[in-house]
Amino acid sequence: MIKLSYDVMEYRLQILDLTKNGDTIIELGCHIGNTTKILLDNFKDSKIISLDNSPEASKNMNKLSCDNLDFINADVRLHETLLEVFKKIQNCDILAIDLGGGYHPDTVFKVFYIWSSTFKPKHTIIRNRGILEFYNSADGSGEKYKSCEGYLDSYHDSGIPPQIKEFELWTPSLKSKQNL
Ligand SMILES: C[S@@+](CC[C@H](N)C(=O)[O-])C[C@H]1O[C@@H](n2cnc3c(N)ncnc32)[C@H](O)[C@@H]1O
Repeated sequence: MIKLSYDVMEYRLQILDLTKNGDTIIELGCHIGNTTKILLDNFKDSKIISLDNSPEASKNMNKLSCDNLDFINADVRLHETLLEVFKKIQNCDILAIDLGGGYHPDTVFKVFYIWSSTFKPKHTIIRNRGILEFYNSADGSGEKYKSCEGYLDSYHDSGIPPQIKEFELWTPSLKSKQNL
């Protein structure tokens, strides 16, 4: 199942609703760990891999340190970040994506594409206003393309996607970071 939200409380409720104790969770955009803490409290036997590229995330996430939490301070748009996580786990039950509710929907969709096609989650929960607005506004042709999983059926067999070139064109800050 794929769930969309904009309100952060709704995002957390959706994750709580779909997660079972023992599930493997990848959380993209954990910030200072407010959702992570809820997950740790509710799913004691779950393995959680949380990622964020901001300095304030590192400071706060390191304080949450425990055996079932793995925090990675990295840019989730990068192929090397995807591979770092793939070395640890090859699939997940829950993929939660919150890069900021108003963050570019195109970037969030691409992040969803590369992470969900790699880890094939049962459920993906995305917090993003633009994607939600698009979903609520679009009127489809009625053709029956639909996935019951947390990834799209149309790229089910595509394997791990390579670094997406458009990230460099569409998000200038990524390019400057890579050149550092
Ligand atoms: C709104 S906050 C997330 C809040 C958090 N999910 C919660 O429930 O409290 C968005 C986070 O996404 C992170 N972020 C945005 N783009 C990112 C990227 N390309 N790679 C990693 N983290 C990113 C930001 O650093 C920020 O901490």
